Amino acid sequence: MKLRKRGYVGTTSTVMSQREKDNAILAREAAAEGFVLLKNEAQTLPLKPGTKIGLYGAGAVRTIKGGTGSGDVNNRYNVNIYDGLKNAGYEITSVEWLEGYDRGYLAARESWKAEIFRKLTEECNGNFFEAYSTTPFSMPAGAAIDEAAAKKDGAEIAMYVLARIAGENADRRDEAGDYYITEEERAQIAALCEAYEKVILVVNTGGLIDLAFTDEFPNITAVLQFVQAGQEGGNALADVISGKVTPSGKLVDSWALDYMDYPNAAYFSHKSGDVYREEYREGIYVGYRYFDTFDVPVRYSFGYGLSYTEFDLKVTGISKQISAQGKPTLSVSVDVINTGAAYSGKEVVQVYVSCPQGKLPKEFRRLAAFGKTKLLAPGETQSLTLSMDLYQLASYSEEQAAWLLETGTYGIWVGNALSTAALCGTFVLDETKVLVQCEHICPLKESLEELQPDKAKLEEKQTAWLRKAEERKLPKVQISAKELPTETVVYEKLQDQYPGRAGEIVDQLSTEELIALAIGDPAKDQGASALGSAGQTVPGAAAETVTVAEKAPYYVASIVLADGPAGLRLRSEYQVREDGSIDGGDFLDGFENGYFAEPKESKGIVYHQYCTAIPVGTLLAQSWNLELMHTLGRMIAGEMNEFEVTLWLAPGMNIHRNPLCGRNFEYYSEDPLLAGSMAAAMTQGVQSIPGCGTTIKHFACNNQEDNRMGSDSILSERTLREIYLKGFETAIRSAQPMAMMTSYNLINGVHAANNYDICTKAARDEWGFAGAIMTDWTTTTDSTAGECTAAGCMKAGNDMVMPGDMRDHASIRQALKDGTLDIRELKRCVYHTIKIILQSNQYEDVKS
Ligand code: BGC
Repeated sequence: MKLRKRGYVGTTSTVMSQREKDNAILAREAAAEGFVLLKNEAQTLPLKPGTKIGLYGAGAVRTIKGGTGSGDVNNRYNVNIYDGLKNAGYEITSVEWLEGYDRGYLAARESWKAEIFRKLTEECNGNFFEAYSTTPFSMPAGAAIDEAAAKKDGAEIAMYVLARIAGENADRRDEAGDYYITEEERAQIAALCEAYEKVILVVNTGGLIDLAFTDEFPNITAVLQFVQAGQEGGNALADVISGKVTPSGKLVDSWALDYMDYPNAAYFSHKSGDVYREEYREGIYVGYRYFDTFDVPVRYSFGYGLSYTEFDLKVTGISKQISAQGKPTLSVSVDVINTGAAYSGKEVVQVYVSCPQGKLPKEFRRLAAFGKTKLLAPGETQSLTLSMDLYQLASYSEEQAAWLLETGTYGIWVGNALSTAALCGTFVLDETKVLVQCEHICPLKESLEELQPDKAKLEEKQTAWLRKAEERKLPKVQISAKELPTETVVYEKLQDQYPGRAGEIVDQLSTEELIALAIGDPAKDQGASALGSAGQTVPGAAAETVTVAEKAPYYVASIVLADGPAGLRLRSEYQVREDGSIDGGDFLDGFENGYFAEPKESKGIVYHQYCTAIPVGTLLAQSWNLELMHTLGRMIAGEMNEFEVTLWLAPGMNIHRNPLCGRNFEYYSEDPLLAGSMAAAMTQGVQSIPGCGTTIKHFACNNQEDNRMGSDSILSERTLREIYLKGFETAIRSAQPMAMMTSYNLINGVHAANNYDICTKAARDEWGFAGAIMTDWTTTTDSTAGECTAAGCMKAGNDMVMPGDMRDHASIRQALKDGTLDIRELKRCVYHTIKIILQSNQYEDVKS
């Protein structure tokens, strides 16, 4: 194998490259495809270009492109909503207010920066990240809006952009300025509603916020869920506002009427007053599984989103097929007709299934399949066939340690939202069947009382739809349990040797070399690890692996890992000194595009590394478009190749368990099938380019950010498997990501990074994961609860300790000496790592 020769990555040219231009187009398309139109009354939208708009609100000029922390991308430019609307030909009448806003914003940022530096020295012991992440920037509201002046400005309509910032290491608060609007914002909205007949509300927030105020202001005739849309957000918004693009996004979360309606609202994270223990008392009833089962009304349901046109969905058949592997699958065929007269559009078809309420209580419905149409012209029809994997309908029995499909009738519901899904057929399973026989994992160490639905009520609901199915003579498919194979998992035994070239190399390496390969390159971590920019070869990358085995006869390349998920996170520029060495600057240079860094004097030649900021995970998922995810993945891999990155530390796919999780914007959804499918499509896209891979993260139960390195997620095995592992399982089974990253938290008392049950038993033995697992950054050195060690990672089958610290070497060395770590455990981990390195883009001759 021939190692690729590394050069300086990036370019000395300041001119925007063709790649940047092409990818900007895609970022714009992706954003427009994901916006969800929540409300559109009085024919507010679309709005003709040329219309005069009174534009207000924090996100108008300071449109937030994405969240903070490792998921932030240091890109070249951002198109804000103000510019986007102007580019599309709208006339903005509120320029004075917007300019005033910008001045206030800049001043507020400066005070915020000063506060961070004060905290850094006075409270945070020099830990910049701690000072930064615990001091979230609160967007100023801007000046009060003068109603009379607004009335006179000649605008026909107003747009108000509500904006919120969030990021890793801190959860959000259910307080004014975060989950709720402030008094100043309320007064501004009230003034606009007095002055204008119609107000468009644009929600530029990473996570959900309270929308109850929209009920008080009937003049808010349109609401658009913009989330955080990447560098082309403003242009993409204009595309949708103008009708150039018909909105087709659908919600990926249930939008409650009130924060307290979320089942874990009272005790989530800081709300319980204890950030060390997080009891998942709501069990499997997360998101719509809760609202739908317990009949709690929501503002907007899971899967909901409006269009400018209308669609008719006609179910044309439900059928059973036997797959190539001999497994039966069910398909629902649906004709989607654009019945509108004026606009072309796309529609998302969603299939939900009601599983029988048997021995195991279950949610009323769960998402079982979905698909999106192409762009349909008025009158045009497309037939979609949506296949359901029956395994996705199984429930986990703790009693039997098995995935079961229970006997009975299953209801199939089809619609363009959960709230509108209609019963359209059933299938009947004659006997209960064990689909997978497992062993227990992650046992609870204490008793946990989980929320239980009222069985009688659920049975009543079941009887009602069963009756409906009979009366309407809906199609019914029979499935015999005999047709379904049972898989019994064979759990790992430690091996003495491993196959292939990676196995041979592992056999020949010395113990010290093995230890080195189990850990990221500490020489490259110049104190920047906490900010995820410990890489030096490619400045701003999160880390890189060691060079110890790069030489003959091994040729094990050192590979570079860089963050995501909203693009590729690198430093936007660095310098090459006269002697040829790289000056990547310090970690502050890689943070918020250098906003906190001192201005740099020139030391040599400046190289630029501009990557594309795509929409955040939630917005991407709102597209429900797997093909688009694949295309974006390919696009990212193109940038990875250009900048010589092998592993993208993305996508993030934790479950949206509560809207206050500070990192929800990076993640896809409250539903594991949707999250898993999105991650799979993204992975397939990235990995369609030879040598590039994804790193799905954070495995698992990283659902809170306050005390994320010390919080213990306490949950039942069933909940863990059905909700929090399911997405990872789906992504692994269908796309084999090259890597996976464990989370910081503990699961039932055991650190995820040191957790044999999830890393080895679940991921490898049950799902067949063939890639490498790595820790999240500094997990082993910075945990705030219990011990989490590098040796513990090796025992668990967590292959790479990142970003690398000499203490990790000592931990493994000591454990080998004590005999608490078997050399075969270390070899197994290094084997996994070398195996993926040998497939990396660091070889001239790598093939997919
Ligand atoms: C984050 C990860 C990220 C890593 C490297 C951590 O703080 O939790 O998501 O990939 O840093 O930057």
